[in-house]
Amino acid sequence: MVFTQTLTQTPPEIGRNLADPADLAAAIQTLKKERRAIILAHYYQDDAIQDSADFIGDSLELSRRAASTEAEVIVFCGVHFMAETAKILNPGKTVLLPDLEAGCSLADACPADAFADFRRRHPEHIVVSYINCSAAVKAQSDLICTSSNAVQLVQQLPADRPILFAPDQNLGRWVARESGRELTLWPGSCIVHETFSEQALLRLRLEHPEAEVIAHPECQQHLLDLADFIGSTSKLLQRTETSAAPSFIVLTEPGILYQMRRRSPSKTLYEVPGADGCSCNACPYMRLNTLEKLWQCLETMAPALELDEDIRRQALVPIERMLAMSA
Ligand code: 13P
Ligand code: SF4
Repeated sequence: MVFTQTLTQTPPEIGRNLADPADLAAAIQTLKKERRAIILAHYYQDDAIQDSADFIGDSLELSRRAASTEAEVIVFCGVHFMAETAKILNPGKTVLLPDLEAGCSLADACPADAFADFRRRHPEHIVVSYINCSAAVKAQSDLICTSSNAVQLVQQLPADRPILFAPDQNLGRWVARESGRELTLWPGSCIVHETFSEQALLRLRLEHPEAEVIAHPECQQHLLDLADFIGSTSKLLQRTETSAAPSFIVLTEPGILYQMRRRSPSKTLYEVPGADGCSCNACPYMRLNTLEKLWQCLETMAPALELDEDIRRQALVPIERMLAMSA
């Protein structure tokens, strides 16, 4: 199916020029009130989208906010699995995603039928899935985790039970090391976090010995081995605020730099380029959402997430377990 998300509708005559980002942002706020909507945004969204949001967070914080909101409409500026999680938690609400094609390489790497085979081959295992997966995979899981709570949750599992971990092998390896538990890993990875160049990182470290290297656990092991601090997006943001270091070499999606700079304007941040010198570490899925598409989805109330009710009910169980275990 093809989802065209270009601005196909002429904006209403409201005495504003919606080609102007400031007017577009104002029109979004007006429409948001009319629709009784809340706008949730992940830190990997463009700056202008972050500025339009009621709440910005990492995957865990956004799930919590989606679970507790009283708004009638949730506009999720993030990727499909995030909006899907909001819908699983709020079946009676309208959940909008500005661009339905905003997917995720991790979710794509773990088709539900292949995952079912994997589970069948490991019948004794507890199944822990990273939230970056489809509702159909969540529905087959015992427990969902995010990069914020994965270590803490795995440590709570019975010591005599083996564990399957999907779909991010890099996160899984880090969780195994931190928790001291052996995990059987699904071989998925994030196309963004596996692009960083080790050579470029080593060069930046030599040039800026005072800088702390901070990394997201979706990065590959050889890069995590060079990091001074590893954590989820929110934990990396907090680290730039609380550490005494004057500068940071940041190994994660560059959308987070916007909030890092706002909260710690005196600190210097260095981005690590990709292996061929590219700046390909902006998530191509996250960046499909734009301010225009955000306006358009509020205007048309589409595209909205729809889910099979049986899958939704089954997927809700491990998500609620996660929220209870990481409260
Ligand atoms: P967190 O929001 O848990 O840091 O995950 C990062 C990510 O890649 C989201 O897709
Ligand atoms: Fe998926 Fe990686 Fe993009 Fe996050 S950054 S949405 S894990 S592809």
